[in-house]
Amino acid sequence: MSLSAFLEQLEQLATEGREAFSKAVDQDAVEKARVKYLGAKKGLLKEVQKQLGKVPAEAKREAGQRFNQLKQDLQGALEKAAESLKGDGEAPANTKGAPPGLPDITLPGRRLRLGRLHPITQTIEELKDIMGRLGFSVADGPEIEDEWHNFEALNIPESHPARDPLENFYLGTAQVGQKDLLLRSQTSTVQIRVMEQQPPPVRIISLGRVYRPDTADATHYPMFHQIEALLVDKQVTMADLKSVLRLFARSYFGGDVHIRFRPSFFPFTEPSVEVDMSWGDRWIEMGGAGMVDPHVLSSVGYDPEEVTGFAFGLGVERICARRHGVRDIREFYRNDLRFLRQF
Ligand code: DAH
Repeated sequence: MSLSAFLEQLEQLATEGREAFSKAVDQDAVEKARVKYLGAKKGLLKEVQKQLGKVPAEAKREAGQRFNQLKQDLQGALEKAAESLKGDGEAPANTKGAPPGLPDITLPGRRLRLGRLHPITQTIEELKDIMGRLGFSVADGPEIEDEWHNFEALNIPESHPARDPLENFYLGTAQVGQKDLLLRSQTSTVQIRVMEQQPPPVRIISLGRVYRPDTADATHYPMFHQIEALLVDKQVTMADLKSVLRLFARSYFGGDVHIRFRPSFFPFTEPSVEVDMSWGDRWIEMGGAGMVDPHVLSSVGYDPEEVTGFAFGLGVERICARRHGVRDIREFYRNDLRFLRQF
């Protein structure tokens, strides 16, 4: 074979090969081109190399040099093509365990995450459980309330500052001369709803959302949850109130919690107290409590001479935050999964 015939064959092959590598759209195509042109056993370049023996002796040097040059050329084209497709398609960047173009089944799998209940929901369930064991059943009431249940029946007169439009989310639905609706500002509304429906004795709790136009900060949020309790029967006293609250606190927080009453005022209880809890350091205010005011009992048709009762209302976010060491109750409503997954 003449030198020129050999070189022609070689150039032709090199041109085809370069084109094949530059047109390869994925790792698969690169690999096919590699086998076809540079394959160690049956590659086309290998075939041409065999012809090298038939070239006249005096032309061998030149033919060999050109052959090596073009071989290097094609190897460069292969590397370039492989490099530019790295990380493309389903072929992982690290193809250690997988043939080119296939997913690497030796890589660790992706773990599926299970959903879970929101920490406030979990707390509510637990509080229901504890109070259930003390004989309290669960009652429910609407979040959109009327002024009778949110205020009047609870002995909160028209002139009371708690009814200020700036302290409540009134819905502005009232016609002239009518009462307005509002988002309830306290779960004490449910006390009235239950007593309107049934004669004494009563032993209920109610857990749910309440709304106040407060600016959100570490301890306030315009929507939060309360646990309300009401017990009405013959000869109920303040001692019963304190015993139930202490049992409740110890069941939820453990034996090292102390409770304390501070004199206070609520229109629907007499006497009224603030309920504080402590773990040996400082006292934390958890809510209010007291003996149901006789006016409230009469407003629902109960006879205050016959029955007495106690009631309390505590903040669920505060209870949950204290138990889990959450310093800012806004965390509960940021929907940050890194926070929520801890519960
Ligand atoms: N409703 C009161 C509040 O939201 C808390 C409260 C105080 C509830 C005394 C009660 C109670 O049942 O007896 O601030």
